[in-house]
Amino acid sequence: MQNVIKLWRTLQGPPQVVDSGECFVRNFQPGSDMQAWLELHNAVYQRHEKSRPWEKRDFVREFERSKGWTPDKMWLAFSRSKPEKLVGSVAVATRASTGGVYGSILWLTVAPAWRRKGVASGLLNHLEAYCWEMGLRRVLAETLGSWTEAVAFYEHRGYEDSSGI
Ligand SMILES: CC(C)(COP(=O)(O)OP(=O)(O)OC[C@H]1O[C@@H](n2cnc3c(N)ncnc32)[C@H](O)[C@@H]1OP(=O)(O)O)[C@@H](O)C(=O)NCCC(=O)NCCS
Repeated sequence: MQNVIKLWRTLQGPPQVVDSGECFVRNFQPGSDMQAWLELHNAVYQRHEKSRPWEKRDFVREFERSKGWTPDKMWLAFSRSKPEKLVGSVAVATRASTGGVYGSILWLTVAPAWRRKGVASGLLNHLEAYCWEMGLRRVLAETLGSWTEAVAFYEHRGYEDSSGI
């Protein structure tokens, strides 16, 4: 049984959105970005999950057919020196609980060669700024306890295990 942990952050103000020097961030463009997104996703998550590679139909099920999905809820990071090179991605879904509505972080992914360069931080700045604009003050990150790099990243960003929220 895998140990899923929920880490929350309450936003206190709009985060500053400053892209790292080596990459830039923009929203997902339907059609043209899907293949690159699938390649990045499969390169990273197949190592963890040992599942079959995701295909277009999986993307459509996860995002395009999901209630409330719009391309402005996904951010992609590209190399500045090779602008066609996708190096990271994240998406957000709006969800509701007894504590009110919140943003839920989906599929935060950075290519292995691009880690520890601030790519995930830049992506999360965009996501949190979007949440703030949408009036969402709480943001949830769900991950596995065994994914120590993800836990370390979210804790660095002020996300906490506060299951009472
Ligand atoms: C977790 C992940 C998204 C982090 O991406 P990243 O671009 O390397 O993160 P950043 O460079 O923005 O890191 C910011 C800070 O988070 C912490 N951090 C990030 N990765 C870390 C690691 N492997 N070990 C310890 N701390 C880490 C550090 O404090 C880091 O600052 P520093 O580099 O100045 O010390 C990336 O490792 C990844 O894609 N992992 C596989 C997929 C995954 O686990 N996704 C999350 C699923 S819920």
